[in-house]
Amino acid sequence: MVAEGTGTGQVSSVMGDYALACAQFSWSTAGDWLDGLPQGGRNIAYEAVDRHVIHGRGDHVAFRFVASDGLDVAWTYAELAERTSRFAEVLRELGVGPGDLVCGLSGRIPDLYVALLGTLKARSVFSPLFSAFGPEPIRQRMGIGHARVLVTTPALYRKKVHGLRAELPDLEHVLLIGPGSAELVGAERIGPGVVPLAELWATTTGAFEIEPTDPEEPALIHFTSGTTGTPKGAVHVHDAVVAHHATARYVLDLRDDDIFWCTADPGWVTGTSYGVIAPLTCGVTCVVDELEFDARRWYRLLEQEHVTVWYTAPTALRMLMRAGSAPHEGCDLSALRHVASVGEPLNPEVVHWGLQEIDRPIRDTWWQTETGAIMVANYHGTEVRPGSMGRPVPGIEAAVVARDPQGEVLRGPDGGPIPLDEPDALGELALRRPWPSLMRSYIGAPERYATAFLGDWYLSGDLVRRDADGWFWFVGRGDDVIKSAGHLIGPFEVESALLEHPAVAEAGVIGVPDPIVGEVVKAFVALKPGFEPSDALHRELIGFGRSRLGNAVAPRDITFQQDLPKTRSGKIMRRLLRARELGLPEGDLSTLEVPS
Ligand code: WT7
Repeated sequence: MVAEGTGTGQVSSVMGDYALACAQFSWSTAGDWLDGLPQGGRNIAYEAVDRHVIHGRGDHVAFRFVASDGLDVAWTYAELAERTSRFAEVLRELGVGPGDLVCGLSGRIPDLYVALLGTLKARSVFSPLFSAFGPEPIRQRMGIGHARVLVTTPALYRKKVHGLRAELPDLEHVLLIGPGSAELVGAERIGPGVVPLAELWATTTGAFEIEPTDPEEPALIHFTSGTTGTPKGAVHVHDAVVAHHATARYVLDLRDDDIFWCTADPGWVTGTSYGVIAPLTCGVTCVVDELEFDARRWYRLLEQEHVTVWYTAPTALRMLMRAGSAPHEGCDLSALRHVASVGEPLNPEVVHWGLQEIDRPIRDTWWQTETGAIMVANYHGTEVRPGSMGRPVPGIEAAVVARDPQGEVLRGPDGGPIPLDEPDALGELALRRPWPSLMRSYIGAPERYATAFLGDWYLSGDLVRRDADGWFWFVGRGDDVIKSAGHLIGPFEVESALLEHPAVAEAGVIGVPDPIVGEVVKAFVALKPGFEPSDALHRELIGFGRSRLGNAVAPRDITFQQDLPKTRSGKIMRRLLRARELGLPEGDLSTLEVPS
């Protein structure tokens, strides 16, 4: 156990008494912490932006973008309100309306944030795509969501999207932002419906009245991956903002004078929910770093921006740990009062490092794309148990439920899961529905959605233990999905891409442990007759994977293996590939077709 360190700021008034905070909490009261639309209903962008202007905080800085060229941009809430209104006007002019899908694909540049919030103002639905995705993940996600609009940069459009246009019949408008986009105003179109955003901006007024928005209207689609099949588009509604806001208060401990830095990329759910929505609902200043990781620069950024609350990830913290003390020598981090982490297991070693090296406990938090908001956490002002993801947030009931040896959750007499109440029992983490940010569907996949629940319970797929005091400890994932640098990667997506190569007959993809990024993607490939393993083919396949999938998803390593282990029904046994790769016990082989 680690007590609150010195120099960590005041003890939180919010979560100082965990039991009391839980007892006093209700989601309907939490809804009242926000405003609701004057014209009826609830809209995320209104809660995040406009209401602060109405409350007289329009001059407060909403975003500070720290740019590669040193030309940093700061926008107040009033400026953000105006820009997001202009974006909503642009959509309305284009005939893009409620329910239509707008995808965003860019690095962390200011106009991406405008597009996200402006889309929500227009009651259209926003889906972020990671800028390091290759064409294949982009095509799949936009296709599943029937995206009508894409907001991206000229370079990303040319490199990743232009060649897909024939396969994306629903995509009508591509709005160009960022470097090189202004130069294209008035120029010849670089593709059908491709227009620089700046060109459409000219006719906007900056005034846009958000229409009444049903809190249950879809607002966001976040794609995530499972063991099998195509990516799943988790649909979140406007009411999710109630959970974003409540968790920002309870877990991130945000108050309106905070300077908050969430290092997650807005191409994923964390960067959207906690890099944009949740902190803005608290009226804080958000720092956005447009550049990639660099230990020295990161410490300088914490110092120069006077960051008070920092939400980051184990991979980044492990990279800082590896960089040693030199990069932060002489750095004044005294403004920093709260550090939290998410996305992968936070090793106790990193928590101890935080205490020693930067004199701050690092507080782990757990959630998922599907849960939409933080569900389990270590709270500011409370004890930290290194290695534990913490305790459920107020309003969330969590249980450890029983699974059979095949990994299926067992059904109790009432049709629901069977809770394991004894301390430290190993089971699957389940959460009792509903809560505002729980996904409402997987777009176009009702059967997959149905299997995520048993009775009143959402099944997370994660294996956990709960100790006698009610703290949760992550044990592992219950499926074959890979977590690399905090990003979830579906093995099926990688296998499918490799199978498109003429030499590949079969592919099995697994995650191999890595001390920094958690896991790296590794593929086992069986070749078609007429092809022989060679260094040249190896290089070609690695390159093929990267060009199709992008660096964030492609396999880092490929092994040629003709006799991939399969079940009787012909499915490649990734678990066995993994066990053999890591020298682990091979487990139950009774369904193995060809023991090799
Ligand atoms: C999966 C969800 C993280 C939210 C946004 C990304 C793993 C998440 C932790 C943690 C151990 C964690 C789980 C989870 N995960 N937080 N604190 N300790 N594992 O959501 O991409 O849907 O990933 O990330 O396996 O199921 P996601």
